[in-house]
Amino acid sequence: MAAEFTLSALDSSQHEEAARLIHRSLVSWYETHLGQGSRFGNDPTPFGLFPAVYESLDPGEALAACDAAGALLGVCFVHPRETHWAVGIVATAPEAAGRGVARAMMEEVLRRAALKSKPVRLVSSLLNLSSFSLYSRLGFVPHTMYQDLSLEVPFEGLAGASPIEAGRVRLALAGEAAKIADLEEALQGVRREKDYTFFLDNKVGEWQVWVLEEVGGALSGVLVSSQHPDWGMLGPGVAKNPEGALALLWRALDARRGRTSVVLIPCVESLVVQSLYGWGARNIELHTAQSTGIPPKARGLAFPTFLPESA
Ligand SMILES: CC(C)(COP(=O)(O)OP(=O)(O)OC[C@H]1O[C@@H](n2cnc3c(N)ncnc32)[C@H](O)[C@@H]1OP(=O)(O)O)[C@@H](O)C(=O)NCCC(=O)NCCS
Repeated sequence: MAAEFTLSALDSSQHEEAARLIHRSLVSWYETHLGQGSRFGNDPTPFGLFPAVYESLDPGEALAACDAAGALLGVCFVHPRETHWAVGIVATAPEAAGRGVARAMMEEVLRRAALKSKPVRLVSSLLNLSSFSLYSRLGFVPHTMYQDLSLEVPFEGLAGASPIEAGRVRLALAGEAAKIADLEEALQGVRREKDYTFFLDNKVGEWQVWVLEEVGGALSGVLVSSQHPDWGMLGPGVAKNPEGALALLWRALDARRGRTSVVLIPCVESLVVQSLYGWGARNIELHTAQSTGIPPKARGLAFPTFLPESA
């Protein structure tokens, strides 16, 4: 039987309910399918960072699916960007699963993006066939595979010598968002200047933005690092080459001694992956970037993240 629901913009009065729904749906899906529900913990509170960040970045864009009584059945975060639309996280209440809630929200995103003639991009778990097939059926095509690596940085710092280029990594300055967005556009063909302005403003969440500066002053890499206690992820970021990527990673990780970080690395970037293993990283997930339309030709390497979703 089809669930009756209506779509609307997620209201700030629904943020707590959204946090509970995201937590509940992840725990339920990963426990039922993989026996890994515990990886999301018992407390939905940290998931409140999702609606808070997205509402600040893209006010009024997040979608809510509600039943006739107004209870939340699904949420979907939507980010219109200069070159594309990004989507994530998508979650359906376990009791409403399989009834078309996620499909309806995604179709609305595709409709909005089509009105602006923009492709839609996202990052999808390769362990979660429900979400992979949801996107695949809607026409998304995978293009880059990433391994999610988790690393607890020892209090005494990472093992071994620092990468040669680490000395040229510095914190980005206020006002550098356009320069960073130019670099990402030149390398990856996507542009999200608003996101970098948001990180540098640093009003919601807690962010550090590291950049790699060439001798002449041009940027050749960027890596955002979340310092929020509820979200220890590195990304988004981009680097011209693996050596630059390692310098950025080393610097960002060194600033997180005693804490655990998760970072997505393109599976083909063996030098970077092996170095991370050398620092003690462990594999915890696999993801693929997916896109409608033909993805732009990319140079260098990207570090996608899920908050805010970047692909
Ligand atoms: C993934 C998720 C959002 C799907 O939500 P849902 O509302 O149950 O999905 P829908 O009912 O809209 O159906 C999704 C589609 O995938 C299809 N599908 C599901 N599993 C499938 C499989 N193994 N193979 C092929 N198709 C599959 C369904 O048949 C449906 O296609 P259809 O509309 O053409 O019939 C939900 O399982 C969820 O919230 N999971 C936990 C959170 C999560 O992992 N989110 C995604 C990552 S951010």
